[in-house]
Amino acid sequence: MDFSSIESRARAAKAAGQEVVLVLGLGFVGTAVAGNLARAEGASKRLFFVIGLDRDDEPGRAKVARLDQGSSPTYANDPSLERVIHEACTVSKNLVGSNDPRSIGLADIVVSCINLDVQRDAGQVDKLVVPTEGYAAAMRMVGAHMRPGTLVTVESTLPIGLCDRVLYPALCEGQKKQGVDVAKNPPKLAYCYERVMPGPDYLDSVNNFWRAYAGMDAASADAARDFLAKYVNIEKFPLWRHKSTRAAEMAKLLENSYRATNIAFIEEWAKLAEGAGVDLFDIVKSVRMRKGTHDNMMLPGLGVGGYCLTKDALLAKYGAEKLLGLDIAMPFSRSAILTNEAMPMRAVRWVEEHFKGALAGRKVALVGVTYRPGVNDTRSTPSEIVGRALMAKGCKVAAYDPLVSHWDECPEIAVAQNPQPVVHGADAVIICLPDPLYRPFLAELLKKELSSGAIVIDPWNMVVDACAADFVRRDITLKVYGRGDYERASAR
Ligand SMILES: NC(=O)c1ccc[n+]([C@@H]2O[C@H](COP(=O)([O-])OP(=O)(O)OC[C@H]3O[C@@H](n4cnc5c(N)ncnc54)[C@H](O)[C@@H]3O)[C@@H](O)[C@H]2O)c1
Repeated sequence: MDFSSIESRARAAKAAGQEVVLVLGLGFVGTAVAGNLARAEGASKRLFFVIGLDRDDEPGRAKVARLDQGSSPTYANDPSLERVIHEACTVSKNLVGSNDPRSIGLADIVVSCINLDVQRDAGQVDKLVVPTEGYAAAMRMVGAHMRPGTLVTVESTLPIGLCDRVLYPALCEGQKKQGVDVAKNPPKLAYCYERVMPGPDYLDSVNNFWRAYAGMDAASADAARDFLAKYVNIEKFPLWRHKSTRAAEMAKLLENSYRATNIAFIEEWAKLAEGAGVDLFDIVKSVRMRKGTHDNMMLPGLGVGGYCLTKDALLAKYGAEKLLGLDIAMPFSRSAILTNEAMPMRAVRWVEEHFKGALAGRKVALVGVTYRPGVNDTRSTPSEIVGRALMAKGCKVAAYDPLVSHWDECPEIAVAQNPQPVVHGADAVIICLPDPLYRPFLAELLKKELSSGAIVIDPWNMVVDACAADFVRRDITLKVYGRGDYERASAR
């Protein structure tokens, strides 16, 4: 929407008692946050007029155009998402998109949900590039346009120390450009990390979930608390106030590093189970019976994907070293990242061994290309690692995913929404995700479409029980992560 229309609608909304919130970045996080703010109600009216601001480039304009058409800029299999966005854009009319940074000057509150990527070469975690200058530039832009007194909250995942060492000074710089005396009128900056989970509870995971915050000073923290309290269900999920922005930054990184480490831990046990002839899936389920201490033990799988678990432990190390000058190696958390990254290569090695290295021209089918079931986010996926490695060895790789039509990160691999032609006659099939969407039919499809000599890799224990007998009879090889009992039975 053009700036003058947004300006007049924002002014009308303010006159009607709504606060104006600008959400910076309409990605996976920003969309869910904008939708949540737009649906928040109090005393029978919408609390906020929400402006979603993205870059003035082609992808940014496409996201804003979708919002202005009443559609979500991102996909999640949460049926409430499209409904909430459509209703807010076309009925209550309290949600608009913009590519014009002047919109920042209309806001009472700015919520930053932009990305901060970690760039590195695969297989190493020592040389990291984190473009913090890009985030600082965004904060300078916010400072240069916002009115003094505006609350700025940051929800992106940050290296420890970024708020106080980089973002706050950048915000002040922007304000000074406007002639604001920041000593007398310091900007309010708070860090309120996001725990949104793409998937069926996408929207609810923002406001019906535990949230935490911290401020650069008490005034910023109090303002963030009051803002969160307006749209988060704090009766059920009380807010957690951290003692500093650094503490909040660390909390988010610790949380994700813990999970990534937990996943990495099970890898060596999967290999042990395979060698020992036992079923690790069954074992883990039995250990999980110990509620309270062991019930979040992970099951084996192809690997870890997604934007967060593949980078966040590295942001901790980066912040410690580059922003705080600390010499803390964090070997445990960093090696978890490497272990997780290497996990999908087991599938590649098995395919290679099966065909005794003769991979040129082999037809390979990947089943599922997103990072978790039920989402269409294809960033940093194990399937990409597998697909690229097999293509590099000369295989012809195609993929099936019911939620993806184009694989942005790996455009060389065509993705079909019909699994039959992808799987039909494949030399190798790798089940990259345990998605309930294809669980009901996958085993039967494989039995029907594969011929003798093929290999199926089932890292999730998804089809083994339904296919094992048929595959043995028809000389189709099945390899399963962590299922040594199956290996032993099929060898007999
Ligand atoms: N994806 C998740 O599930 C998740 C969950 C919790 C936290 N996070 C964190 O939240 C942050 C955002 O993640 P995401 O998945 O939404 O990323 P994303 O890449 O999907 O979205 C980022 C958006 O910000 C926009 N953007 C970047 N710089 C901008 C600028 N200067 N001005 C305006 N718009 C700009 C991009 O164009 C993009 O639309 C990251 O730090 C991530 O680690 C993500």
